[in-house]
Amino acid sequence: MDHKISLHDKSFRLYIPNAEIERAIDAVAEKLNRDYASSTDDNPAILICTLNGAVMFASELMKRLNFPLEFKACKLASYHGTHSTGVVTTELALPDGLEGRRVIVVEDIVDTGNTIVEIHSQLLAKGIKDARICTLLLKKDVYDKDIPLDYVALEIPNRFIVGFGLDYDQLGRNTKDIYVLDE
Ligand code: IMP
Ligand code: MG
Repeated sequence: MDHKISLHDKSFRLYIPNAEIERAIDAVAEKLNRDYASSTDDNPAILICTLNGAVMFASELMKRLNFPLEFKACKLASYHGTHSTGVVTTELALPDGLEGRRVIVVEDIVDTGNTIVEIHSQLLAKGIKDARICTLLLKKDVYDKDIPLDYVALEIPNRFIVGFGLDYDQLGRNTKDIYVLDE
């Protein structure tokens, strides 16, 4: 495990080791397994992975889920460099055929919540039965929206982090630990 990494012009130091991430995912998966135990082959839950950041979390999570589910993806973008732009653009739209379905949105991190608000309103417009949010990370001092975050694996202060799927201008996604910007 490297204690420091550099990406583009910035350096980052080790922040959350993989073992702690894995334990947090175990706990969230256990809750999901309890809450979705009534999911059936005829009416499976729909797991929607928000690309690209949530890809590593979604795959670790899915290994631990034991109820019938379908896997889908969408891609929205709001971040540029180390800050949210406040404008959310859709790069890969939500799938069709969500009417009456129970949806679990899998996010890497909820920061301002702008992305979640946008996904939630698009899901409602598609006539879903219900949507729950499952996020690996939450910046709880920043999040100021009303949508409940049903499953939060880890809470962090308002710091910029990378690793385990999260990037700084597209680099840094491929580490198993999470690193924080060294300021
Ligand atoms: P929000 O719309 O402000 O909640 O931002 C959510 C998205 O911004 C996440 O899905 C990430 O892609 C990105 N993001 C927010 N905070 C960080 C961070 O600390 N590091 C890397 N990406 C982040
Ligand atoms: Mg993201």
